[in-house]
Amino acid sequence: MKISIIGAGYVGLVSAICFAKMDNEVTLIDIDKDKIHTIGKGISPIHEEGLDELLGQVPLKVSTDYLDTMSSEVIFICVGTPSDDRGIILEPIKKALERLAGILKTRQDYCVVVVKSTVAPGTTDETVIPILEKSGKKAGKDFGVCMSPEFLSEGKAINDFMYPMRVIIGEYDKRSGAVVNRLFQNFNAPTMRTSLKTAEMIKLASNAFLATKISFINEVGNICKRLGVDTHEVAKGMGFDDRIGPKFLNAGLGFGGSCLPKDLRMIITKAKALGYLPDILEGVLKVNDGQAMQLLNLLKKHIRPKDAVIGLLGLAFKPDTDDVRDSRAIGIVESLLQEGATIRAYDPLAAKNFSLLFPQIEYVSREEVLDSDAILIVTEWEEFRHLDYTGKIVIDGRGIIKAREARIYEGIYW
Ligand SMILES: NC(=O)c1ccc[n+]([C@@H]2O[C@H](COP(=O)([O-])OP(=O)(O)OC[C@H]3O[C@@H](n4cnc5c(N)ncnc54)[C@H](O)[C@@H]3O)[C@@H](O)[C@H]2O)c1
Repeated sequence: MKISIIGAGYVGLVSAICFAKMDNEVTLIDIDKDKIHTIGKGISPIHEEGLDELLGQVPLKVSTDYLDTMSSEVIFICVGTPSDDRGIILEPIKKALERLAGILKTRQDYCVVVVKSTVAPGTTDETVIPILEKSGKKAGKDFGVCMSPEFLSEGKAINDFMYPMRVIIGEYDKRSGAVVNRLFQNFNAPTMRTSLKTAEMIKLASNAFLATKISFINEVGNICKRLGVDTHEVAKGMGFDDRIGPKFLNAGLGFGGSCLPKDLRMIITKAKALGYLPDILEGVLKVNDGQAMQLLNLLKKHIRPKDAVIGLLGLAFKPDTDDVRDSRAIGIVESLLQEGATIRAYDPLAAKNFSLLFPQIEYVSREEVLDSDAILIVTEWEEFRHLDYTGKIVIDGRGIIKAREARIYEGIYW
């Protein structure tokens, strides 16, 4: 099929490459000229396993011009939907839709616009369709609309996209859904066709549940730490029960990234706007927000940060990515800087992105981090499981067993 993808970020770029690999004719569009230029040269602007190789193999048209969506049968919207305390910021998606409406105006043929960006329930009906209809064309008659949320996980995005656990297709009408269903028919995954609003809610509820599991085990961790019990052992024992399962029960510094905190805030804001106070979800955020302070309090039991050199192992929000959005390292660095510490940091992939946020700290090798007065383990990169921690002071936010050999070792929940 002929497909256009608007927004060449983690979701858009991965979707474009994977659809192209499945023999679709794909055009990837972004307003960021540098990004499009880089991708056009066959270089991925983000780190994802397998992405660079595929980028060199599959035919992919890249562009900054919305006119290039003209002959696409399906147009995916994958632009960012960041949020702040007041909720989701819809400006990027609105601007993309305005430009798409300009194209729809001149199109004579039927195409389906699919929202893949994460949006609050009701957004496709209340915001997306009215903007597209400014073209003078009617949804359901001249063009179709679907909402198909993306569930990929950074670090294994290609695999998640190619082998999804499920495909959710929220459809304005049967005709729109049938087109998108055809595109996904070769994916070996359960496919659910539903309403636009239900699809939007499935995405938010799924991420809210994952976040809840993490904050739940961290809350259990707060109790275990006081009991002198290892939370990982407790989680392992719980995980044998297949009603609970072992995944997302890894106690530690909590969740970050561009999705879980934002999607949780989005569902909370929506609930409150509807007159409902979501106590559990508010608690999930509250527990998560307290994690950085837990780690720093443990550090202060052993060393005064003022005038000390504190080494950070890990800056990415999780291993195998260069993404630092909402990384736990951000709050830790802010607090340490306020306390007057000197900070040295190492991350195998994310140092460059982090240095855009904090140019004032030192970015060094992992050996130089190990040479600090005390070391904080912030991201569970595999390579941190093999370092020599003997003689060091280590405060571990991620459960790196090898670090227990340190002279002074404290785990956040064990
Ligand atoms: N990153 C993830 O793991 C993930 C997973 C599932 C869902 N999502 C959701 O998918 C959406 C995209 O996330 P992302 O992480 O890929 O975002 P991103 O910030 O990495 O990329 C967004 C891209 O959209 C581009 N853009 C902004 N306005 C545009 C416009 N008017 N026209 C064309 N391009 C425009 C930006 O330049 C950027 O390249 C978000 O709603 C996010 O919540 C993300």
